[in-house]
Amino acid sequence: MDYLEIEGGRRLSGTVRISGAKNSALPVIAATLLSDHPVVMENLPDVVDIRTLLKLLTILGANVEHEGNRAVIDCGSVNSTRAVYEIVAQMRASILVLGPLLSRFGECEVSLPGGCAIGQRPIDLHLKALEVMGATIEIKGGYVHAIAPEGGLHGGTIVFDKVSVGATENTLMAAALAHGTTKIVNAAREPEIVQLCQMLAAAGVSIDGVGTGRITIEGTGGKALRFPDPVRIIPDRIEAGTYLCAGAITRSTITLEDVEIEHIQSMLDKLEGMGCSFEIDGNSITIFPPEDGRLKEVNIVTAEYPGFPTDMQAQFMAVATLAEGESLIEERLFENRFMHVSELNRLGADIWLKGNVAAVRPVDELYGADVMATDLRASSALVLAALAARGTTRIRRIYHLDRGYDDLQGKLSKLGASITRLHE
Ligand code: UD1
Repeated sequence: MDYLEIEGGRRLSGTVRISGAKNSALPVIAATLLSDHPVVMENLPDVVDIRTLLKLLTILGANVEHEGNRAVIDCGSVNSTRAVYEIVAQMRASILVLGPLLSRFGECEVSLPGGCAIGQRPIDLHLKALEVMGATIEIKGGYVHAIAPEGGLHGGTIVFDKVSVGATENTLMAAALAHGTTKIVNAAREPEIVQLCQMLAAAGVSIDGVGTGRITIEGTGGKALRFPDPVRIIPDRIEAGTYLCAGAITRSTITLEDVEIEHIQSMLDKLEGMGCSFEIDGNSITIFPPEDGRLKEVNIVTAEYPGFPTDMQAQFMAVATLAEGESLIEERLFENRFMHVSELNRLGADIWLKGNVAAVRPVDELYGADVMATDLRASSALVLAALAARGTTRIRRIYHLDRGYDDLQGKLSKLGASITRLHE
């Protein structure tokens, strides 16, 4: 199995280009199931999760040409509507094929998802929305079996009692081909949702309220979509935030290219509060560490966009370990998203957990140790801590990192980090 060996304590410098957003690319790829024509995609991140979803589409019968950051996906040849356990268990986001498969083909079977072990992560909201649109749902043998009514799904008003990114995406895709109008109340407002809405709108679907909590969609009544232009995936705000944290924790000046500044505002506010400063030039941003090298403590409560993202909680916790005062970090979205705490403590951090709040007490330094990656973002927190730690850190189970970070090792090496991928 591969592991990373990081020699910590080096200053970083230089420029890193941010890749396309994995979490935007996934629904965009799923949405190609709504079309019977080829869809061109650009700026795809080269990560395992993308390859997993493309493989799932291939198994369903789609014709996929994928090279580097570009893919052409033709779902005109899809001849199966069964998303098998072997793929769905590898990546929870595979559930995103449920809405489009059901609305285009009237029936589908999707295995119950696996994915990151960060809590129970049910799919009740996805299913509830499809039921409002007339679907009959049965769960049997580990599969969700969904059947649309005679003539196809119909519109309806869906009121989510919790904001869910995935459920909003699935509902949008189902509603795009439904008969009549669908209203989503308490929709997610993440940039990834906005990209999906823009893609559907470019194919002629009428959508109101894009980027707000109330979205209204006019379905095509069963007519497959045609996406005329290449879809360019938006920059990955979580990857950008992770490299900003790399700058902060190693007290380095780093420039990020291809960033959507508005998407990372909540992170910039926190880093500014910790004493970092920024220079913004269009789509690039340079982070400068505090002049005296001393980071202040930070208080964070995770929230839905535009609040502070749960996907950045672990990375900021790593940075907070080396701040001057005690930081408080509260996780509000997932109930089991603190698995990095014990591993950070192995590197010399002093973090105490009470329920969903972590108290991060300052330490003078971190030191290298053997640690284990537990989920995608927790793994990147360990990489950040290792970059700042004295000595050598070995991080195992890095397949989590491969799922979501495009060329992490190459990008960090280019910035001057000592990071090697080894095999045992
Ligand atoms: C997406 C992101 C993930 C991010 C998360 C929250 C992708 C591929 N993944 O995940 O990186 O951490 O948003 O920003 O985009 N919930 C239910 N019932 C449901 C669905 C969700 O109770 O049917 C709960 C979840 O358990 C969680 C909360 O709602 O507590 C938010 O989850 P959700 O927004 O759905 O996350 P994902 O779409 O899975």
